[in-house]
Amino acid sequence: MWVFEETLQSGEKLTDAINRTNENVKYLPGIKLGKNVIADPDLDNAVEDANMLVFVTPHQFIDNICKSLVGKVRSDAEAISLIKGMEVKIEGPCLISTYISEQLGINCSVLMGANLANEIAEEKFSEATVGYRNNREIAEQWVQLFTTPYFMVTPVQDVEGVELCGTLKNVVAIAAGFVDGLDMGNNTKAAIIRFGLREMREFCKLLFSSVKDDTFFESCGVADVITTCFGGRNRKVAEAFARNGGKRSFDELEAEMLQGQKLQGVTTVREVYEVLRHRGLLELFPLFATVHEICSGCLPPSAIVIYSEKKNIFP
Ligand code: 13P
Repeated sequence: MWVFEETLQSGEKLTDAINRTNENVKYLPGIKLGKNVIADPDLDNAVEDANMLVFVTPHQFIDNICKSLVGKVRSDAEAISLIKGMEVKIEGPCLISTYISEQLGINCSVLMGANLANEIAEEKFSEATVGYRNNREIAEQWVQLFTTPYFMVTPVQDVEGVELCGTLKNVVAIAAGFVDGLDMGNNTKAAIIRFGLREMREFCKLLFSSVKDDTFFESCGVADVITTCFGGRNRKVAEAFARNGGKRSFDELEAEMLQGQKLQGVTTVREVYEVLRHRGLLELFPLFATVHEICSGCLPPSAIVIYSEKKNIFP
């Protein structure tokens, strides 16, 4: 397991601490990792000879990681991305799986779902979705690799739909956090979740007409929206943002509340906003647009409710 090296407050290197205690003492304390997991600060060494590569980092870091891996991974390696974000380039949006695939010249599937990390680590039952392009055999291999008695994995041939669900649900979770911070109650939150799911579906289809409706009923769809809107970090920080009336920035609250972990939703909604603005479609996505305008300080958190008075465009 490649680990970005950090020096802990004790002066010990993070990888040394993980290998000494068999725990990720900074990001997942109290949970024993498998004995076969060895933290390695050297990326080249960690990927050497690997034929299955699992990418799971904040999406802000994927660019540099891929660039430094070019020419270093096996040409027959299979990748899977657990990263819930996307890259927006001048030429258009690029899914992380596509980016990994293009940079490294290997196939890349995705694994998304209602997966709050701590709950999985405590072996509470969860399910997840593997999104694959066209090779069912590879998808089955990933399913076999990830499945445990408490982790049920379902393959779905819709890599774009699965990945975009995982990405976009973070935007809905921020909206849900605003609603919580404003003490609006459960009905409002449920309404926001429904509007959000609808915009997720339309946005997915706008980018990829191949995206299937059924994908939204998998773990990566409605289930991930629900868990993240109730128990995720995006929701939690967005609630604090609204409680402070938008006066403290997301960056500041993230640093204070997440101890080095990174939020994906604020970056994602900026990227989504860029795509929609570029295509002149902001009016069709009032929830996504409003979330970005609140996050960037152009609107107050209470605007999330004014949004719901706008016309519902999608059936
Ligand atoms: P957060 O990053 O908001 O904690 O979301 C977790 C998640 O993706 C659950 O599936």
